[in-house]
Amino acid sequence: MVENSGSIEALLQEDRTFPPPEKFRQQANIRDPRVYARARRDPEAFWAKFAEELHWFKKWDQVLDWKPPYAKWFVGGKTNICYNCVDRHLESARRNKAALVWEGEPGDWKVYTYRDLYREVCQFANGLKSLGVRKGDRVTIYLPMVPELPIAMLACARIGAAHSVVFGGFSADALRDRTNDCQAKVLITADGGYRRGSVVPLKQNADDSLNGSPSIQKVVVVRRTGHADDKMVAGRDIWWHDLVKGQPMTCPPEQMDSEDLLYILYTSGTTGKPKGIVHTTGGYMVGAYATAKWIFDLKEDDIYWCTADIGWVTGHSYIVYGPLANGATTVMYEGSPDYPDRDRFWAIVEKYAATILYTAPTAIRTFMRWGEDYPRKHDLSTLRLLGSVGEPINPEAWVWYWKNIGGGRCPVVDTWWQTETGSILISALPGITTLKPGSATQPFPGIDAEILDERGQPVGPGKGGYLVIKKPWPSMLRNIYGDPQRFVQQYWSRYPDTYFTADGAKVDEGGYYWLLGRVDDVIKVSAHRISTMEVESALVDNSKVAEAACIGKAHEMKGEAVVAFVTLKEGVAGTPAVMNELKQHVVNKIGSIARPDDIYFTAELPKTRSGKIMRRLLRDVAEGRALGDTTTLADPAVVEALKKRYGDEE
Ligand code: PRX
Repeated sequence: MVENSGSIEALLQEDRTFPPPEKFRQQANIRDPRVYARARRDPEAFWAKFAEELHWFKKWDQVLDWKPPYAKWFVGGKTNICYNCVDRHLESARRNKAALVWEGEPGDWKVYTYRDLYREVCQFANGLKSLGVRKGDRVTIYLPMVPELPIAMLACARIGAAHSVVFGGFSADALRDRTNDCQAKVLITADGGYRRGSVVPLKQNADDSLNGSPSIQKVVVVRRTGHADDKMVAGRDIWWHDLVKGQPMTCPPEQMDSEDLLYILYTSGTTGKPKGIVHTTGGYMVGAYATAKWIFDLKEDDIYWCTADIGWVTGHSYIVYGPLANGATTVMYEGSPDYPDRDRFWAIVEKYAATILYTAPTAIRTFMRWGEDYPRKHDLSTLRLLGSVGEPINPEAWVWYWKNIGGGRCPVVDTWWQTETGSILISALPGITTLKPGSATQPFPGIDAEILDERGQPVGPGKGGYLVIKKPWPSMLRNIYGDPQRFVQQYWSRYPDTYFTADGAKVDEGGYYWLLGRVDDVIKVSAHRISTMEVESALVDNSKVAEAACIGKAHEMKGEAVVAFVTLKEGVAGTPAVMNELKQHVVNKIGSIARPDDIYFTAELPKTRSGKIMRRLLRDVAEGRALGDTTTLADPAVVEALKKRYGDEE
């Protein structure tokens, strides 16, 4: 391997390949490349083998029942994912092993063994039952990254209630929409959480959301910051610690049908309304378990840390369910990477001797900008494997991560997947795959991916097209909650019986997949999924706005940033004060992750003759590029004026 000069030019031309280091390969869970052929020959048998490693109260009668677009996996099987994540490990010495290592932002920390986790989950499950929660009910969880979050999820799963976790950064309005959509019975929240040294007022947001969420009967509140002691509403709110007090320490797990609802997780799509992605029990469990085991190469003595927030699917599958189903030690951190200083992640790796680290490219690029001195201050020698998720990773960031965090000895697995897919679908297997920085490498065994053109023809090597999945996989979404039509229309109508990912991709001559970003109106801001339509709806909700169009503008750190083009109502001037008001309005409607970086005021938006806003041209303006084809515009002067006003700022 030739050492790179480290200059930007050299890194941009990065074409090195990285075979698995011999030391890693020798100990890897999976070393034999023939697994790919085996899975291709009989995908059902391939997945069933993983399922057999887990506990079932009753074994399935049939592995797969596929009536496109509806798949049922492990049909007739009865199981419980909480049982598999907790109870299953109590039968061996694992009961005394750390299941969850949690660190709060202020520096407080706790370790739960599997036995501790069992007790906490059972007591809380009994608490939920005492509030009237039954199998099939929905529970909204709006918590910071505290241990009660995975405990609440596992408790719901134990008693057969579906959880809907809402990211703690979402606003009261966003929480209300999600609670109402699934008609949740109970809301679990906290008085607050710590973020960059301040308190995020979750209880306040929860209270605001509750005027207008009539389905919620009870609110359970975790006491984290002590900031809401006077805000408890008698008869509705109950402290978590009061609820669990005196509850029995055992709680029989509900025997769930393989296809019973496990959870709903809302994500952004092409319209202004988020979609409740439906995941069921058996297939999701098998998918999360199998991919965590093979891709993260989980071993008995690993200390595995995924830095995501559990409010996103990454946290569901790879902080909670995947690692715990494997009996691993999973680390969870509450706060921000720069509190109290920019070395916090590396201090955590050192403190707990983490062996596996899974994070997002946006974080890696930020660390790059902060410089090598921060990681260098800490002993990172325990790390043996690195992962990346959420957006394409640029080769420069990949190599920086590999070198400065992984010390040049840890494979970097770039994992492609979606809320809808439930588990990773494209990734290296670190003991087998030769890595290419910037490529997610290959579909996981058993996953049948392809890249198609508009007409549904495979595009062939080197050409860009739409990434699709041709065969069902166990952890695939089963539906959109309450909106089966949208499920069919969104994912299954572009090509017959084929899952449409809405991602662009190409495959190189060597069969490596390169992800090219979304082909719909979804953007990835700091790896968070945001719909430009959602931001537009939030903007037009403001009484000063006549019309709005949003785009994702390429951003060095965040990947993409939200930029809005806004036409104000007659008589309203586009002053800085109005701009701030509109940005704040978006924060109030959605959350700060959706705050536009820039708002450009314009008398008109560029539209085609049939009235469609040409976002492509808005992107050209925002990114300071020459305008693309403008011949379909109703009035080319509109975009020329915009370009003149904003386009030359770059
Ligand atoms: O565009 C892809 C991008 O993130 C989208 C899914 O976002 P979400 O449902 O929030 O799930 C994120 C975590 C799994 C995809 O459609 N994406 C995710 N991982 C990658 C990626 N793009 C490129 N490379 C990845 N590794």
